Amino acid sequence: MDSFELSSTPVTPKVGALDMDRLSFILFGHAAFQYLNAACELGLLELLMNRGPLTSEEIRKELLLEERSVEILLLGSTALGLTVKEGRRYSTAPLIISLSKEGAWRKIKDTVAFEQHIVYEGQADFVDSLRHSTNAGLRRIPGDHPDLYHRLSQHPHLKSIFYQYMRSWSELANDHLVAELDLANATRMLDCGGGDAVNAIALARHNPGIEVTILEIPGSAAVTETVIAEAGLAERISVQPGDMFTDQFPPENDCVLFAHQLVIWTPEENTALLRKAYEALKPGGKVVIFSSISNDAGNGPLIAALDSVYFAAVPAEGGMIYPWSVYEKCLRESGFSSIQCADVPGWTPHGIITATKSCEPPRSPSAF
Ligand SMILES: C[S@@+](CC[C@H](N)C(=O)[O-])C[C@H]1O[C@@H](n2cnc3c(N)ncnc32)[C@H](O)[C@@H]1O
Repeated sequence: MDSFELSSTPVTPKVGALDMDRLSFILFGHAAFQYLNAACELGLLELLMNRGPLTSEEIRKELLLEERSVEILLLGSTALGLTVKEGRRYSTAPLIISLSKEGAWRKIKDTVAFEQHIVYEGQADFVDSLRHSTNAGLRRIPGDHPDLYHRLSQHPHLKSIFYQYMRSWSELANDHLVAELDLANATRMLDCGGGDAVNAIALARHNPGIEVTILEIPGSAAVTETVIAEAGLAERISVQPGDMFTDQFPPENDCVLFAHQLVIWTPEENTALLRKAYEALKPGGKVVIFSSISNDAGNGPLIAALDSVYFAAVPAEGGMIYPWSVYEKCLRESGFSSIQCADVPGWTPHGIITATKSCEPPRSPSAF
């Protein structure tokens, strides 16, 4: 993992020049995604992994599709490289087979379902969202609350897709979080907006000395509690149902975690949350930001840029995949020092930022 101090983020990464191939791929990017989603939802890729190679007629019978439908599906999946055609028979792409063997394909499929059922429609309101600097696409998910998370409580199917995806998205990178965080001497951790406890459970298993409180909205707290109980960790991980903006944080923590959290809110809201974290930490304690992060050059990574469309259009009024420097500013304004960053390797644009509440008392204004 590449580690560095903020303010020293190096080199401007290169971005490939636009050519006709790339332009046409962007033009029909929505269609490419629909082929991927169809191949997942209709079970094409699993079928070929388990029983392939198969002819189009054999596939048609297994998937219960009309001939025209299977020809369209196979044309697209093969042109995109999701399936491979040799002679008259189709098989699943070798990359997907190897991702499946290592357990990553299921997580990618969970991400596909999230993109299809929660993200896709709302992104059509991206222009409006930019024009009015608000999450115009949330209107596609019925409800009154101004954020997605509270609305999900009224849509059990979407809620389960969301938490399945969130678990998978965290799991694609959180072994690095577990390896990076030194919690050997920690006893108390607060996980703000901890979702279904995916990160709290991973950290608690690795650090038997810590107890974790998860602050989560009341509409999701029952999911969190169920998953903790299933993991057998109810004695060490508890849930505090509430609102991280308006409720007090439990005090005297060694660590406060914001996992996939500060991408949702404006920098001003993030600074307010980080100030609350500062107050809730013991001197010497650490705040941790674990999230997708964009580069300070403002040109990538590509997945961070693409994922920002969702954060602009759907979950809450302000948010994006922020660059490292935005977090540095919020952290310094909240009183933190010793800011350290780690770029997580892999195809997701995850990063980990830790910052410390100094053991020295803050200097009074007269000391300046
Ligand atoms: C993007 S998910 C991240 C979940 C988890 N931290 C993870 O990394 O998998 C954001 C979580 O924050 C919770 N949340 C949103 N607004 C909140 C609030 N005001 N107070 C407490 N939790 C909140 C949501 O319910 C959701 O579970």
